[in-house]
Amino acid sequence: MILRKKFIAGNWKMNKTPADGAALVSEIVTEIGRQTDVDVLVCPPFTALESAGRNLEGSNVKLGAQNMHFELNGAFTGEVSAPMLRDLFVTHVILGHSERRALFGETDAMINQKVLTAIKNQLRPILCVGETLSEREAGDTLKVVQTQVEAGLEGVGKDQAPSVIIAYEPVWAIGTGKVATSDQAQEVHAFIRGLLTKLFGETIAQKVRILYGGSMKPSNAPELLAQKDIDGGLIGGASLESRSFVDLVKAAADAK
Ligand code: 13P
Repeated sequence: MILRKKFIAGNWKMNKTPADGAALVSEIVTEIGRQTDVDVLVCPPFTALESAGRNLEGSNVKLGAQNMHFELNGAFTGEVSAPMLRDLFVTHVILGHSERRALFGETDAMINQKVLTAIKNQLRPILCVGETLSEREAGDTLKVVQTQVEAGLEGVGKDQAPSVIIAYEPVWAIGTGKVATSDQAQEVHAFIRGLLTKLFGETIAQKVRILYGGSMKPSNAPELLAQKDIDGGLIGGASLESRSFVDLVKAAADAK
């Protein structure tokens, strides 16, 4: 029997001031701060981590960052390190988001270093993978995902693997309103589960959560979340407003 708790994470991207972020967290906490059926995470921009963190204190909602440098300190202008995030009570960090890959030149090797640094510093990495539209049309989806998963997790030990979360985000579905069908998503999630089985063995692979991301919203979530290998969502647009985010958490609770 599979005992993976569903996981709903909000990636706010470059949205919300500290005050706006704190207000959104308050609304979320009021509605679902006590529930324990679903793991819930909000990932504000760096500048709103502190105020958001203050307002989720004492609730079951957790705090994540959207990126991190792989070094712990030093001459890296504009960057933020794992210990800095830990100091703000951050527990998770999104790594290798397709926007970081496409717009900021992040490579699989850099992302792998970040994954290893996160784990070493007790931050749970959310490793994002996914193909572009042209890669899908060329029939390369599984090959691209395989490279990103294997390269991203290189050097991760069996004992560390259960702390990793994978997010499959087809690039063509992000912010486009064009959601992957549940069959398309399940196919890739099952493939990723197979890769994890090869890397870490069946028992561990069954423990790792694999989230779907890309235009997920309350209307399409139930069908996606009903799939065997879809363990939750990494939500962009629909995480910026408490109503839709809370409804997604409720959909995940119903899907368990
Ligand atoms: P949207 O939900 O806005 O498509 O964004 C998905 C995403 O990129 C989450 O990381």
